[in-house]
This record gives sequence, structure tokens and C-alpha cells, in this order.
Amino acid sequence: ARWRRLSTAAPAWHLGAAVAFDIDGVLVRGAGTLDEGRRALRMLGGDNRLGRRIPFVLLTNGGGVSEAAKAADLSARLGVPISAQQVVLAHSPMQALAAQYARKHVLVVGGIGRRCADIARSYGFGNVSTPDDVVAAHPTAWPFMAPPERPAHSRDYARDPFHAVMVFHDSFDFGRDLQIVTDVLRSRDATAGGAPSNRQSVPLYLSNADLVFSNEYPHPRFGQGAYHVCLHAMWDGLTGGAPLAHTRFGKPFRVQYDYAERLLDQLALDAAPTTDVSQLRARRRIYAVGDNPAADIAGANGAGWTSVLVRTGVFAGGPGANDPVHPAAMVVDHVADAVQWIIESEL
Ligand code: G3P
Ligand code: MG
Repeated sequence: ARWRRLSTAAPAWHLGAAVAFDIDGVLVRGAGTLDEGRRALRMLGGDNRLGRRIPFVLLTNGGGVSEAAKAADLSARLGVPISAQQVVLAHSPMQALAAQYARKHVLVVGGIGRRCADIARSYGFGNVSTPDDVVAAHPTAWPFMAPPERPAHSRDYARDPFHAVMVFHDSFDFGRDLQIVTDVLRSRDATAGGAPSNRQSVPLYLSNADLVFSNEYPHPRFGQGAYHVCLHAMWDGLTGGAPLAHTRFGKPFRVQYDYAERLLDQLALDAAPTTDVSQLRARRRIYAVGDNPAADIAGANGAGWTSVLVRTGVFAGGPGANDPVHPAAMVVDHVADAVQWIIESEL
């Protein structure tokens, strides 16, 4: 290793492998950054027995911020450069819907303020409203809160139909968002104020099925999946069990893994522009490190990736345990041990 210490050049790439890290419960817990996360990413940067760098992406069911903002935040916290092209958020692959809905009015749900509406606009959705906008225009639509502290919205949502409902992120106001979303989905004319029917008015897109996720609280917290459960229960209660069709994004669904794999292809091309991507795909081993068996391990196993489960988040099994429903290829204490195991597997 002596020549490495003397050399100033960045270590060469090892493109036969790639890693997809989950974020919450693996690299960070809420506002807290795990030391093992910093160590893991330093190791992937070449500080390992291979003496080579391994490409990686962050594959999270989180969202509500732009990929660039998430990359900047995690670069600062984890102490390694991470670009927006290495970040897959729950809603990132929903960009593909923008062509279909570029000019169509869509209801974007979740997150703080208008942040998700702004993200949707940056993806190419040109006509976006939020439940907050609807309530600002029609305060009695959700009477159980003070009106938003900004000028009343002038758009008449009783006359302005929607073409889709898209849940981008965790609801920050379950009650309001259950009311407004069921209003739109049941409305005969797909407005927020139309007479209700028992037939779904417009497509529903969901971005993160996680019932729970892990932050700094000692036990897992409700995630976006908890909102879906409530929405389905409200829909069933109101319609007597009519079907509610929906399209899912996020882990463990394949769409997320295909998207991540394309980012990994691009990272390989950036590292070695003459790379033959189909040959690379045939030989590359992709490792996924996660804390939630139902999302990270189920998805990785389904995509044919090598799954590594850690004990720093949702999974609460002790030493020697694995998840009985979605067993991981390897179970370790934390993400630094996961990377150690990956490096040893690649030696
Ligand atoms: O809200 C985020 C959470 O549901 C999952 O985040 O990084 O563990 O996939 P992550
Ligand atoms: Mg997680």
C-alpha cells in the first residue's frame, strides 16, 4: 500500500461491483449522522484492501427535497463528494410521468409547504397544485386548522379538474391530505369540489410504500405507507369497497432498481468512457445495503442484487437473526461492516 500513500492520483475504479446505500437507518438517523456511514463511504473511495474505488448510489424512499439538495446535505454530513446523479429519491423515477402530464393539472401531495410542487415543476410538470393550495382557496374544505398564513389562493378548485394525484412524500398533515385526496378521487368531474361518486376519477401515483422508517427516535416512525393505509381505509369506508387503482414507485418496486441501475451505468461511463454497458451489466455485482427488510431487502433480492441487512434501523433482529420473510444475503451490525464484507467478497 506504500505507493498509494505516496501517489496523489485518485485510486483506480473497480467497476465489477457497485453499491446502493439506503439512507435512513443506514447512513443517518434523522438529524444524526452515523460514524459507520462516514467510514463506509471513505472505504468505498479507495481506502480498502482492493485499493480501488467502487461506484455507489444512494437509494432512498425519502424525498421532499431535490436530488441536488439531498446530495449536498449528505456530502457535507458524510464528508465525501456525492453528486445529484448518485441520488435516487422515492419520487425521482416519477420524472418519467412528466411528458404525459406536462400541461395537465396534477395534485402533488406531501412534504413541507410548496417544496414538492417545486420539485414536480423541475421534473417538467407544468400545472401543479397541492392540498395546501386547495385549502387556501376553500378554507372550509378542511375546517380543522387555522387558514394558511398567506394570501388566499384565487384559483377556483371547484371548477378546475385534476388529471392525476401524485403522492411525492410523507404527508405532513394526514387529516387534510386524506380529505382533499379523497375529494378529488371521488369527484364526478375530478375537481376538488365536485359531487362525489364511488368511481375513481383520475390515476393515483404513490412514491414510497414504507409503513415505517427509522429516525433518531428509539422505535420506527410512520412513513408514507401509513398514509396509503389510511387513504385506502377512507376510500373503502366512503365507497363501500370500490376498487382504488394505483401505481407505485419507490423500493421495493422494480422501477426504482431499473432507475438506479441506469445511474450506475452512467457513473461507470464517467469513470471509463469506453465501457460497454451491456457487458458491464452482465458481470457487475450490485450490492444493496439497507435496514428495512420489506423495502430494501425485498427489492434488492427481486432485482437480483446482493442484499446486506444492517441492525442500525428498522430491522431489530439480534445476532444470528435474519428476516424470515425477506432474508438478506448477509446480516451485519452496521454499514461499515457491510462495506467490509463487500470488499472481502470482491478481493
Ligand atoms: O421517509 C423516508 C423513509 O420512508 C425511508 O428512507 O432512506 O430508509 O429508504 P430510507
Ligand atoms: Mg432505511
